[in-house]
Amino acid sequence: MENFNYYTPTRVVFGRGAENQTGELVKQQGSRKVLVHYGGHSAKKSGLLERICHSLEETGIDYVSLGGVVPNPRLSLVYEGIKLCRKEQVDFILAVGGGSVIDSAKAIGYGIANEGDVWDFYEGKRQATSCMPVGAVLTISAAGSEMSNSSVITNENGWLKRGYNTDYCRPKFAVMNPELTMTLPKYQTASGCVDIMMHTMERYFNQSDNMELTDGFSEHLIRTVMKNAKILMEHPDDYNARAEVMWAGSLSHNGLMGCGTDGGDWASHQLEHELGGMFDVAHGAGLAAVWSSWARYVLDARPERFARFAVKVMGVEPGADDIETALKGISAMEDFYHMVEMPVRISEMGINLTEEQIRELAEKCSHFGKRTIGCVKKLDQEDMYQIYKNAGK
Ligand code: NZQ
Ligand code: ZN
Repeated sequence: MENFNYYTPTRVVFGRGAENQTGELVKQQGSRKVLVHYGGHSAKKSGLLERICHSLEETGIDYVSLGGVVPNPRLSLVYEGIKLCRKEQVDFILAVGGGSVIDSAKAIGYGIANEGDVWDFYEGKRQATSCMPVGAVLTISAAGSEMSNSSVITNENGWLKRGYNTDYCRPKFAVMNPELTMTLPKYQTASGCVDIMMHTMERYFNQSDNMELTDGFSEHLIRTVMKNAKILMEHPDDYNARAEVMWAGSLSHNGLMGCGTDGGDWASHQLEHELGGMFDVAHGAGLAAVWSSWARYVLDARPERFARFAVKVMGVEPGADDIETALKGISAMEDFYHMVEMPVRISEMGINLTEEQIRELAEKCSHFGKRTIGCVKKLDQEDMYQIYKNAGK
């Protein structure tokens, strides 16, 4: 087992009616004025936003609002939020929505707490020294941003999607009522389930060994999400299935599933980020579309790990050797993705990549030849090109 540093400072308030405690939770943070940050229309339409504002009013907390966060949240709105917060002397940001809203809130938090252009952090030019506190009322189980140290923003200038990770941005609290996710379209539910599974799978495919407990948690988490995703395809109002998936979403990305590992691979995420930046695809769907192409490309570097995954997670019968078992497991995962109506190729998202676009994706993903990605097998720009090409078929 590798050494690790596990930090999860987020208070989780989970269950039916949890959102009614939001005002009190903000008050406990000692806040005087809050930015209520939200997305397109779902939180308004469901009446959630009104309930949250009511909860703030009841506890005597002043607030201003800024909506309009889109999936693959944009830098321009982050700038607008920073300006608004400075003008209104906001001291706490409340994100009401999914990963995109929470990530936008975190970016605004960095922008207020640090001098200069907030995009510098996402470009890796310099490091933030703090972040204005953020809280979240979660409406979709997916990104895990409600407990994670990460924020992912898309810069419209060049359509670059970049993540920035520090412990400063971990939310102070996460309000999670599984009922709030029942209004999600089937596609978003499935896409979210893929993302949750992938946050654990990225950590699971690593170069470490001897992590009995973490491996066991990980395998069970992925199986649980698959089981409940299937239930939700038929019964979107099943509270227990919503609850299992929601809790899995947080545990999958708060660090727990990486304890004792070398941190994991993360190549599929890096490959997807460029797809999200260039084609605005739903993050989980983009991950499903690249994962099996990545897996087949790298499996000869760790066949025994892929074989374990195939047996313990996908439940396949072992084949003649690890490679055969591994391949069976990858196919079984593709079958699962199809079962929940997720793509397993980029073309299945209606995107027919041109040769030029494949080159551009690989260029951007390799930061124009300046980095490799992944740890199962280190991938350079040419490897990325091959995987995008295979996934594009
Ligand atoms: O804007 P509204 O109208 O709310 O619609 C949203 C959006 O269209 C809708 N939605 C959310 N809750 C709903 C709902 N519709 C009906 N009922 C509800 N209860 O769902 C759509 C997707 O929302 P979004 O917030 O984009 O989803 P998700 O949570 O999957 O977040 C995706 C973003 O998070 C990033 C992704 O790259 C992507 O930009 N990630 C963030 C991570 C992190 N911060 O730790 C890690 C992830 O790996 C990921 O990269
Ligand atoms: Zn993700």
